[in-house]
Amino acid sequence: MQESEVAYLSFDQDQARTLAAASQNLAELGGPQARGVAALARQWAQRIQPTLDASQQAALQHFADGRLAALMCTQMTCPGSDPAPALLPDLPTLTQSERCLYLASRNQLLLELVHYRAFAFDIDNEGQVVRLVGNFKGGGSVLRPGEDPTSRIELSSHAGLRLGPHTEAPYNCSVQAREGRSPAPSALILSARWNPANEPTRIIPLRPVIEKLGSLHALALTSASFDFTRSDCFVAGQGEAGKATSMLQFDPDGGFAMRYNAYRFSLNDHASEAAGRAFDAFQALLGESEALPFVLQPDNALLINNSRALHGRDILQDNRRLLVRLFGYSRFAQPAVLSEDPLLVRG
Ligand SMILES: [Fe+2]
Repeated sequence: MQESEVAYLSFDQDQARTLAAASQNLAELGGPQARGVAALARQWAQRIQPTLDASQQAALQHFADGRLAALMCTQMTCPGSDPAPALLPDLPTLTQSERCLYLASRNQLLLELVHYRAFAFDIDNEGQVVRLVGNFKGGGSVLRPGEDPTSRIELSSHAGLRLGPHTEAPYNCSVQAREGRSPAPSALILSARWNPANEPTRIIPLRPVIEKLGSLHALALTSASFDFTRSDCFVAGQGEAGKATSMLQFDPDGGFAMRYNAYRFSLNDHASEAAGRAFDAFQALLGESEALPFVLQPDNALLINNSRALHGRDILQDNRRLLVRLFGYSRFAQPAVLSEDPLLVRG
């Protein structure tokens, strides 16, 4: 069952060379945050498209249509060697670095291959399209230089803490903007610049979970019975907590859309008993579900359908682990657009 929720796409040598040249080209122009790069990424994707064989095209189409939980892209290349340093450099240095821009550009190109648009929320990640995921704030299994082991560490992708299974915020809606707020990302894409300890990103496809849950519990999860706390990565004062929202909705493109976060969701005070039982049953099933491990490295990238899969990871073991993440909207998503190029939406 879970097999069919995940697909693999490996590129041949010619395709990998074209992808590398394209990523280099986009990175030299400034990467996903630079004006005009999205259109160029689309052009490169259109050039690569006809070189794909039938099974590669089928995998991409399947993801584009919302029918896969995850698509692992493999056998890509990076120019030159890029060994992990002794210590993780600081965030501003990494943000400017050619290699991070290269991987971010390649992620944007892969999003374009499934007809998704890379974007940023105004209230998240300082409004930037590219998010570097690494232990910049502490909380890993090994202390950072100068880290105070008694300080409170934020639960975000800029820390080393374990992140339980979740979909990406915001949690107000999934496909169409509501009350002026944009939906959750349709997908995220992750690649690794460094992952010396081969620490996996874990995915739980939700379709088998919902099917095991049964129809009445699933129906109860569509009721406005759940609260969520504010995300630590939001800009100060923005993106407040939510009350009485649903977790699950019917979606014609993919069948359903889920919003959930193991460390942020709880039952609303006014929720019915039936909703409470459904919430417990859902969490119990998650506990039993086997999360699928994906070890990210520079030669691969993982597309995750944010409506159809949960993702998470364990506490970081090696503080040099650095991922490059982009959010994407599918062709079905209707965000509240603030600026088209680069795409910035209201969170
Ligand atoms: Fe996440």
